Amino acid sequence: MNDTGVVNNLYLKLSREHEIVLNFFAPAAKLLKAKKFHELFELLKRTEKDLSQHIQRHFHFEEEVFFPAVLLENASIDSVRLVLKLQKEHGMIERDLRQVYQIIHSPIMLPEEKQREVLSLYRDLNRDVRRHARTEIQTLFPLLDQGERGRIQTFVSESFKRLETNTGLPVPITER
Ligand SMILES: [Fe+2]
Ligand SMILES: [Fe+2]
Repeated sequence: MNDTGVVNNLYLKLSREHEIVLNFFAPAAKLLKAKKFHELFELLKRTEKDLSQHIQRHFHFEEEVFFPAVLLENASIDSVRLVLKLQKEHGMIERDLRQVYQIIHSPIMLPEEKQREVLSLYRDLNRDVRRHARTEIQTLFPLLDQGERGRIQTFVSESFKRLETNTGLPVPITER
């Protein structure tokens, strides 16, 4: 596959994974807006395992493949700062999500207390996740589109293979 194919595949994979993750957030955000807390908590409990896994895998993939590929291709003060910021946001998103689940499962918090906490936490989380995904696609991804692509092709192809071997997880893209 040529360089364009490799970069397009990476773009496709990231876009698809963002869509999957954002699709978890959208119905919950609607219930939150309508203050339907009972349905919201039930939905969050039902999707907890899947969402956590998706997010964990996606962040792992970005930190192992996407971010290093950008830095290999376009190392500058700005791109390094951006990658560090996005990586830090991964930690914050995971922490906030964990906190939401802790509140929902808390055996000691009162229902009103849970509702109040989740209302502000989840609203911010929903906004942060969307903003984060937009920055990756709109600001970080175009940095891969500049200059010599040979290194990127090798790096991304090898990373896909390595991740599959190490984690046993298939990389769900059309072609590699
Ligand atoms: Fe990310
Ligand atoms: Fe992402």
